[in-house]
Amino acid sequence: MEHVAFHYSTLNDVIKEAEKLNVFLPVNEKTDVLFSPLSLGAHTAQNRIAFQPMEGTDGTEDGAPGELTCRRYRRFAQGGPGLIWFEAVATLPQARASAHQLWLTEKNVDAFRRLLDEMREISLRENGYAPLIVMQATNSGRYSKPHGFPEPLIAYHCPPLEDTPLGSERIVSDDGLKRFEEAYEASARLCQRAGFDGMDIKCCHRYLACELLSAYTRPGPYGGSYENRTRFLKNCYRAAQAAVAGPGFFLTSRLNVYDGFPYPYGFGVNERDGLQPDLEEPIRLIGELKEEFHIPVINVTMGNPYKNPHVNRPYDHGNYVPNEHPLEGEGRMMRGVSEIQRALPQVPVIGSAFSYLRQWAGNLAAGMVGGGHCAMAGFGRLAFAYPDFVRELKETGRLDPKRACVTCGGCAALLRAGTPAGCVVRDREVYHP
Ligand SMILES: Cc1cc2nc3c(=O)[nH]c(=O)nc-3n(C[C@H](O)[C@H](O)[C@H](O)COP(=O)(O)O)c2cc1C
Repeated sequence: MEHVAFHYSTLNDVIKEAEKLNVFLPVNEKTDVLFSPLSLGAHTAQNRIAFQPMEGTDGTEDGAPGELTCRRYRRFAQGGPGLIWFEAVATLPQARASAHQLWLTEKNVDAFRRLLDEMREISLRENGYAPLIVMQATNSGRYSKPHGFPEPLIAYHCPPLEDTPLGSERIVSDDGLKRFEEAYEASARLCQRAGFDGMDIKCCHRYLACELLSAYTRPGPYGGSYENRTRFLKNCYRAAQAAVAGPGFFLTSRLNVYDGFPYPYGFGVNERDGLQPDLEEPIRLIGELKEEFHIPVINVTMGNPYKNPHVNRPYDHGNYVPNEHPLEGEGRMMRGVSEIQRALPQVPVIGSAFSYLRQWAGNLAAGMVGGGHCAMAGFGRLAFAYPDFVRELKETGRLDPKRACVTCGGCAALLRAGTPAGCVVRDREVYHP
């Protein structure tokens, strides 16, 4: 299929194209519904807009936030989202996705604390409230590159992700997985000490915990059955839970509910047709996380940014042309998010991948939240491009097309290159000095 560029002049044009393609794209002209508060356990988000985690590859070598990291989060805080889901922070040095990925340690916890204090202060001053701030704790697994070159830690051999099979020594042993689980204890303790409101045990985009969910072919206690494939994630929760105190700090996950690789290599996929979502296991898993670990919210996402980025973040330009219309990717994500929220009304769901709609992303967010398809809308690339869009939407009910994300993939290309990531089109101060 030929690539279809974003060519719409009005929101109505987008709606018509979505109808033609028969994709699920609930939009709302009015966006006020996004500005009502939402209870998340013991906490309250002041509006329904979350900024999604986005790695900037700009930490210091010892894992502390660097100058550009601090700049990014100051801008995010000023923008006024109700929740900021802080980017992937490594639980162990060997699990870093780059030599500049953040990594929370005893030595740098105060630097994180200072940044969070500053973010809350800025938002209180500018918006009259502080955002909730969740830290994403990660083990980069297959995508670990702690010294700038790949040093994969894999759950099992996955042919769709390995053109040439990796050596068997890359498969993390059962004992190795136990040690990785234990690392979440220290991360949770430090995360609470740094002042985050909660910690995400990252389980998405085919990093380690996510990859284990589809480890059908792995022998032993971490592979095969549903119980075995979810063991690592739940043990990470248990380790983290043992370290944190009080009801004010929560655990949660950003979860892939659909990988987009055929069975037996994908989670949330139909066994007969791997490109079709089957959300039975993801729904079961989220229900169990609620039951056992009292997660107050779940952040839902899909796909793998390396292999099928069109599933993860539909885009206009990129390194390859997917075999689907970008609105079909949007529709798959929105339908999946909605299916999860409807199956689990007791768990507020944060939806992902709104940025493709550019200046109408707020209308899609309002359609999703207003229609009860999710509790919050999570924005990634649009936040890089237009960090104050929340305030603008609140004040004017619309977004400026000249400031919106153009889904060019430039930010992701920077990330892949291991260099500081941000909006190459809109952030002139950094990218066009
Ligand atoms: C440069 C870049 C960095 C990202 N880093 C993370 C990350 O640290 N953790 C994560 O869960 N997702 C990460 N993502 C995915 C985004 O959070 C989001 O799911 C994706 O961009 C789709 O949302 P959007 O359409 O609003 O951009 C990243 C995406 C980009 C482009």
